[in-house]
Amino acid sequence: MQDSTSMPQMVNSKIKFQHEQLHDQIDAINRAIRRNIPHEDLLKLVQDTEEYLAAHFLTEENLMRDIHYPKFKLDHHKAAHAEALLGFRKLLTDLSLTNSRSRKIFEFLFDWTYVHESTEDRELSTFLEKHMKSDKPR
Ligand SMILES: [Fe+2]
Ligand SMILES: [Fe+2]
Repeated sequence: MQDSTSMPQMVNSKIKFQHEQLHDQIDAINRAIRRNIPHEDLLKLVQDTEEYLAAHFLTEENLMRDIHYPKFKLDHHKAAHAEALLGFRKLLTDLSLTNSRSRKIFEFLFDWTYVHESTEDRELSTFLEKHMKSDKPR
């Protein structure tokens, strides 16, 4: 039997899980910088985080399409993701080209995810919850 009410809950849990994973990755970068781990290890950690972030953005963007999220909101949310990836990749390039142990990359990720999750992502989550309420089983 199909349970149409469980889809938004499942998706919200999946996004929440991915956000927690992302926070763990960002914490790991912070600890790695503080502990002064070898530069190549720090670079690998940051590269893994970039991959995780890109995959997470894709999850949200596919979801927004699937649930027919209003186009102007989808475009705005997608543009925020694209801008973040651009900024992050620039810092990642700087990190790979220099032996810098700058905390810039950690601060960028920390600040950006905090603001984004409390604005665009929260709006998406609220939309999903409303969608769930109106999506009554037949
Ligand atoms: Fe997002
Ligand atoms: Fe997100």
